[in-house]
Formats: sequence, structure tokens, C-alpha cells
Amino acid sequence: MDHLVPDKITVVVGTQWGDEGKGKITDFFANDVDYVVRFHGGNNAGHTVKVGNEIYKFHILPSGILSSRAVSIIGNGVVVNPKVLIGELEELKERGINPRLKISQRAHVIMPYHEAMDAALSGHQAHLAAGSTGRGIAPVYADKMYRHGIRVGDLLEPELLREKLEKAYNFNHQILTAVFKYDFNTPLEIIYQEYLAYGQEIKSYIDDTELELAQAFRNGHKILFEGAQGLSLDPDHGMYPHGTSSNNVAGYAEVGSGVGLNCRKRIIGVAKAYVSRVGTSPFTTELTDSVGELIRENGSEYGTTTGRPRRIGWLDLVQLRQAVRTSGLTELAVTKLDVLGDMPEIKVCTSYKIDNQWVNEMPASLDKMRKAVPHYETLRGWPKLTDNDIETIKSEGYSALPRTMQEYLEYIERQIDCPVGIVSFGKDRSETVIK
Ligand code: IMP
Repeated sequence: MDHLVPDKITVVVGTQWGDEGKGKITDFFANDVDYVVRFHGGNNAGHTVKVGNEIYKFHILPSGILSSRAVSIIGNGVVVNPKVLIGELEELKERGINPRLKISQRAHVIMPYHEAMDAALSGHQAHLAAGSTGRGIAPVYADKMYRHGIRVGDLLEPELLREKLEKAYNFNHQILTAVFKYDFNTPLEIIYQEYLAYGQEIKSYIDDTELELAQAFRNGHKILFEGAQGLSLDPDHGMYPHGTSSNNVAGYAEVGSGVGLNCRKRIIGVAKAYVSRVGTSPFTTELTDSVGELIRENGSEYGTTTGRPRRIGWLDLVQLRQAVRTSGLTELAVTKLDVLGDMPEIKVCTSYKIDNQWVNEMPASLDKMRKAVPHYETLRGWPKLTDNDIETIKSEGYSALPRTMQEYLEYIERQIDCPVGIVSFGKDRSETVIK
């Protein structure tokens, strides 16, 4: 399997609105690399990995945690809810897996007042809110930038923790109660004791991960960076303000892990064969009819984190072009092709019409995005894959895929000027082929 990763450094990122199947692609490579690193986001993410009959759902742990070879790293750019982390670690241990995990001491900690603030903010932002997962993501990153955040390493230093918590707690408490009239009354002391205890529970995992990764990089070890969310949720390049609060383009792998990657990288953008989105924003290719309904049911498109039904749409090449450009993708991994099986025709959005003008690249203006009308090309569909077909594809590879599926993939390649390198057509780890 080693030939699957020709480069030492691989970055896997989402090219749409998250939920593209990044966990599956990361897991596919995880036994061929030495490190799997998460570099941004928190437990707003949801990764599902299926190995044999076992299904694993992670929110904060890297998908590489199931690897027998790789060490998993939660990098400095991640925001950590220690309670959720401890829960996921315990579940893994109960299922017989001993997690090989290291957590950056520089990663910021999600505190109870962040979750409260998320709820208060969403109400305040109303129709300009993103429809947050409610996990405290925007407030924790805001506190980091305000420079009164709590870091994982602080949980091990009782005096420093108290000193910092007093500042952060008072700030958030005042805004919550005086500005938003939000009922937040957990006393500081309770939070202090609870988080000190979490620190002790995760102590053995906390490390100087930036130093370790730098050494690993120098020694030529293989490192895979696992992105969360997706391009259109990026606070700089996505559909601001309807996105999340951490950058998820590939370049952020270096910032969020603390290692300068001065080398050639393999950058895999993961795209679903269609698009889904949870939360609020313009969604140009949205399908609100029975076709969207069918895709949602066939693809089990319900949020891993919140259980919300995902909005569904046709593949959007304007969005993918931006992903290729902003992350410097070297290849695309297209997932969930099986979900579109048996549809007579499949549409692909190649450009938008905005104020009577054709647009091939994603505009920055939210107003323009609200007005965008999709222009579609219609391609031929492919039959539902039978068990026999799947076995043949597994043994013969890409050439055994239905011809019309290959045409679909080759059409995407031409339109976005990026090769398709990986094709996934089922939930299981084995249902993925290299092109
Ligand atoms: P937040 O990251 O919880 O603040 O949510 C901001 C926006 O990002 C909302 O529209 C969420 O639905 C979306 N979002 C955050 N994480 C994910 C994810 O892992 N998959 C899909 N959407 C996400």
C-alpha cells in the first residue's frame, strides 16, 4: 500500500461545505503515514469512518486514530472541548483501541461560556448567522484573537489557569448577562475545578507537538494533514459570514500545526459527487424537489454533529474551481458516486448568471451570491452498482467503473483543470480506487 503515498506530505481538505468524506479518505491513507494531524476546527466537525462492520464517528479526534501505524495529533490550530475529547477517548478504549494521540499545548480550549455565547450570538446575528453547530467555535476563536483564551497547556498550571480564567470568565460573563441578558450563571470556581480535572485526565496526551512534527518532517517521516469543514465555510475564502471561524484551505496546515512545509506536497481536495450544506447561506445549486430528497435519503445526508437534515444540490464547479485555486490542489478525491446511481441524468453547474453576466469564479459579494442563478450541463447517469460490480471494481480498479461515471469524472477534470486521483463509491474503507 505504500505506493499510495508518493509524497511525504499529504494534505486532505474539503472543497465544498464540509461532509465531503474527508474522514474516509484520511482513513484510507492512515496506515501508510507516520502522523495524522488535525490543524483547525473543533468538535463542530463530524467524521464517519466505516471499517468492516464497525462504524466510528469522531468530532474532535483525527480520523487517523484507527491507524495501527500513525500517531494522531491535535494541532495548535484546533479548538478542544476536553469533555468531548475524553468521551471519544473512552469510547475508543471500550472498543479495544488504544489511542496513539498527542495534543498541542498551544491548542485553545472551548469553555462553557463559549457554548452559551454561540447561542446568544446566533440569535443576535439572525439571518446573517451561519446556523452554527452550537459548539462554541466562533467565541473560542474570538477569545484567542482577543488574547484572553485558555490553552490546553494552561490546564496543567493551576495558578496560571486561575489568572487567565478570571479575565476570560469575567469578559464573557459580562457580555452574556449584561448585553445579551443570557442566563449564564455557572460560577467561575465550578468551571475552574472542572477544567483542572480535565487537564489531569488528558495530561499524558499533552505535548510539544510542533517540535515533534518539525523533527518528523526533518527526518523524512510521512505526515498527513486532515482538514475539517470545507472551502465555502472558510472565513476568508468561503461565503462569509455564513461560514465557520477557522481557515480550512490547505495553506493553514502549516499555521495550525506549527511546522513549515518547505517541500512538494500532495494536496487532495475531497468533493462529493453532489453538494450538501447544513446551516444558512445562499446555495446556488440547491435542490428543493424530490430529486434532492432522494439524494438526501440515499446518501444519509443528516448532520453527524447535530443530526440536522442537510440541504442538497448538484455539483458546483464554480465552487470547485475556487477550491483548486485557494488550496493549490494537486488532485481531487470524488466521493459518494454510488449515491447518484440509477439517476437517468445528472446535472453539473458550470457557471452562474448574476445580473445578466456570466460568472465562472466565485464572487466575494454576498449580494451577488444571493442573485446567482446556476447554469447546468446535463450528463448521462450510471446504473446502481451491484455487489458484483463493486467486487469487479475493487479488483480491476478505475477501468471497471461504469463508462458514464468515468465520463462524469473526466468532465469535472476538464472543467476545473485538476486531475481526479481518487474515486470512492461506497461507505467501506475498501470501496475506494486510485485512478
Ligand atoms: P460553527 O463552525 O459551529 O460555528 O458553524 C458555522 C457554519 O459551519 C454552520 O453553517 C455549520 O453548519 C457549518 N459547519 C461547521 N462544521 C461543519 C462540518 O463539519 N460539516 C458541515 N458543516 C459544518
